[in-house]
Amino acid sequence: MDRRRPLRTRADDALMRRLTADPQVKAALFRLVDVRPACADAEDLGRHLAGLLDEVTLRDGPRGAAVTAAQRVAEGRFSARAAGHLLATGVGQMAGRFIVGADAASSVPALRRLWKDGVSTTVDLLGEATVTAAEADAYAQRCAEALDVLCAAAATWPAGGILERDGVGPLPRVNLSVKVSALTPHLRPDAPERGIADATTRLRPLLRRARDLGAHLHVDMESLDDRDAVLETALRLLAEPEFRDGPSAGIVLQAYLKESPRHLEAILDRAREAGRSVPLTVRLVKGAYWDHELVHAQQVGWPVPVWEDRAACDRCFEQLTRRLLGVARTPDTPNAPLVRPAIASHNLRSVAHALAVQDELGLAPGDVEYQVLRGLGDDLQGALADRGVRVRTYCPVGDLVAGMAYLVRRLLENSSNDSFLSARAAGAELDDLLRAP
Ligand code: 2OP
Repeated sequence: MDRRRPLRTRADDALMRRLTADPQVKAALFRLVDVRPACADAEDLGRHLAGLLDEVTLRDGPRGAAVTAAQRVAEGRFSARAAGHLLATGVGQMAGRFIVGADAASSVPALRRLWKDGVSTTVDLLGEATVTAAEADAYAQRCAEALDVLCAAAATWPAGGILERDGVGPLPRVNLSVKVSALTPHLRPDAPERGIADATTRLRPLLRRARDLGAHLHVDMESLDDRDAVLETALRLLAEPEFRDGPSAGIVLQAYLKESPRHLEAILDRAREAGRSVPLTVRLVKGAYWDHELVHAQQVGWPVPVWEDRAACDRCFEQLTRRLLGVARTPDTPNAPLVRPAIASHNLRSVAHALAVQDELGLAPGDVEYQVLRGLGDDLQGALADRGVRVRTYCPVGDLVAGMAYLVRRLLENSSNDSFLSARAAGAELDDLLRAP
């Protein structure tokens, strides 16, 4: 165990592992994400969790305010109201590790601190899977306001060196990640065009605003059900003449999908056709919806779309890294490169592999970005920044209710036996973890 990790973080890790060790609690968390859009506030969320846990026998009793409160409510010893409060406190404490602030304005000091430490950021306004047009409008409005607030604040930050220029040109100081599922209530895999058309009406003004303010807009990838619609919404808009020279924008490639090598070729073709003067940023991730994809495929009887074997997923990530870095041409090539690569992983082997490929291909230090998640990749972020690597941290902003789905994804990731971070925390040897997958 790494003795430098703060006690609080170690306690959170332990609580997270215990919360997800019991399959029934895990299932209750999944269901909580489903009811989240119907929750008015943290108390309401607490009542729902208490209700869901009511059916669960907590065997060797994961502790922590949240679970204890839920248990007591289930046993009738607590009013749901009191439990809601306690739950909000317990989970809220854990959430504080991942979430940088309640809104864009209150997040500025944390973002500025990271910038001064040599780390750039991307802000994610929590809230996804909207169910009404009014919610989608409100999310789009929050995104627009965040762009204004963050750009005004970032203008006063000191020079960022490698953080604001790579071999291609300037890199925006402000970077906002958006979720298409929050921009429309109409995302349905069986009727994608309706969702695309509706999301487009809200994404287009955001792209215009990002362009006018000189900010970067990144379209996050979500579950496979919505993958095509999300990608189409982004790529069709970016191919429009008005966005030819800006804003800087990006999409996500999920290596846990067995089809991801084909996805990357399709993305490269589309980027070539669009002929934009600003390269498309491609953020390579493993993927955050693994449990969901597995359960969903089993439920409907479809073949599992994700690698079930961790090593296969890691191998695919390395293959995609090589391809992606290979097409990001060196700065002295006459044409602008097609893509700007961003390698997002907490797996030291995957990151070290990307750094080695970058070196081998002769790409300059700033020409590849490395990304981590706030609260999970803090150590790695510091180590990379210290070595002069360009690093960006994904920073969620918002409240607990909006962030519930995000938190549950982090819980599942951080407690998975296959995850690099939890294997390391459980005492696995670094040499073993660094071996080629
Ligand atoms: C997620 O929301 C980080 O985009 C990723 O889980």
